[in-house]
Amino acid sequence: MKSDKVENTSLPTHIAFIMDGNGRWASKRLLPRKLGHKEGVKTMRKIISECVKSGIKVISLFAFSTENRNRPKDEVAALMQLIRDNIYDMLKELIDEGVKVVFMGDLSYFDDDIRKSLDRVISESADGKKAIVNIGLNYGSRDEIVRAVNECVRAGKEVDANEFASRLYTGGLPDPDLIVRTSGEYRLSNFMLYQAAYSEMVVTDTLWPDFDEEELHSVLAVYAKRSRRFGKV
Ligand code: IPE
Ligand code: IPE
Ligand code: MG
Repeated sequence: MKSDKVENTSLPTHIAFIMDGNGRWASKRLLPRKLGHKEGVKTMRKIISECVKSGIKVISLFAFSTENRNRPKDEVAALMQLIRDNIYDMLKELIDEGVKVVFMGDLSYFDDDIRKSLDRVISESADGKKAIVNIGLNYGSRDEIVRAVNECVRAGKEVDANEFASRLYTGGLPDPDLIVRTSGEYRLSNFMLYQAAYSEMVVTDTLWPDFDEEELHSVLAVYAKRSRRFGKV
């Protein structure tokens, strides 16, 4: 056990990761960007598993944004292939341990075979009680908000904040207590704009493929020391 492991009481209920820096990780090694993404998948598996082991109940990961669709065709194709090849296998062990997996984003963008894999993950994990893993795929917070607004308009009645939140992709999940962004970028990049109202943020210079269990525990230790006031004194 690491010495800086934090007490369960000060753990975030919901931790979210903006997994950034795969491309730079590869470029630094003179490798194609897609190898950075491949390495990033390994980190994702490792970090989800450590979060679950540590007792965190909701783990969100931003994997592919609505804006990432505009990257060069070959990079998007490589990302699609990675999802195709890894999504089920990456999560299988966790599903067997009782983790429920959900996805947020417009999944209609993905090819049928990928959607089948996503559906398989969703249905096989639906009864999981141990933790929830929420993966952003073709996710954009502005899209999510506009979609929810339109749903409200169609329902033809005014809503309060709780009902509005229930219509977001994250409906039913608590807001993230902690958002971790790797690769030293201080921005949300269209991630959970509504849900992040009172999230604590930690930005680390580490590139996502290099992020490891030890750094996760350091980040949790930083979070445990934060004073959250929610506008009060
Ligand atoms: C994050 O890494 C993964 C995705 C956005 C799909 P990047 O691909 O953004 O890596 P950098 O930021 O170019 O290093
Ligand atoms: C955010 O990273 C999206 C994901 C991690 C999936 P980006 O690399 O796309 O963000 P920007 O372009 O640096 O803001
Ligand atoms: Mg990036």
